[in-house]
Amino acid sequence: MTIAEKALELVSDGSVIGLGTGHAASDFVRLLGQHVRGGLDVRGIATSRATEALAREFGIPLLGLDDVDAIDATFDGADAVDPGLDLIKGLGGALLREKIVASYSKELVILVGQEKLTGRLGTGYCTTLPVEVVPFGLPLVRRRLVRMGLSCELRLREGQPVPTDNGNYTLDIDLASVAEHPRELDGRIRAIPGVVETGLFLGMAGMVLVQQEDGSVEVLK
Ligand code: A5P
Repeated sequence: MTIAEKALELVSDGSVIGLGTGHAASDFVRLLGQHVRGGLDVRGIATSRATEALAREFGIPLLGLDDVDAIDATFDGADAVDPGLDLIKGLGGALLREKIVASYSKELVILVGQEKLTGRLGTGYCTTLPVEVVPFGLPLVRRRLVRMGLSCELRLREGQPVPTDNGNYTLDIDLASVAEHPRELDGRIRAIPGVVETGLFLGMAGMVLVQQEDGSVEVLK
């Protein structure tokens, strides 16, 4: 069984579903779309323009946040998962909308491979913390981060800053040498004017589906 198949088992007919961004979330969206074509009644809320396009391609009816009071469940990937189910997200560039949609959701279900599991955020597969920043404030944010002892890189493509779906930029903070507690770190980064959101998703995931090499799925709660 795949993590997408396991996730689909958690989808109820008539529900509103948050649709994540990235490879794992896209596999889920494609599978969900097949079932919508087969008669499953769900409506989706996309976490990025890319996911919106994919959902449309697969015939999943979409809503905006204006249309709903709450989302029943959101299914998304992650870049790192620690034993307390705290996450790093955003290497795929969609962390802000992902966090907004997850915050509207009764349940956040995360789909990952085993390589994403780590004993401590900032070690292992993902040593980067993405932070979405308003372009105007970028020089200030960079200086403040350096003053906090953090090194960071502006995310570039072909030498140019990569705009997010919200018109912001992304700073990738190198976490490898940071021993700070994630909650404290998150608070200090978010307190810098110009920072819109960080990729730390703390206390948000209720369930993590982990693809095992033998083809089974481990469920962490
Ligand atoms: C997008 O901004 C990210 O949060 C992704 O959800 C995360 O990077 C996981 O993506 P993959 O499933 O592609 O590894």
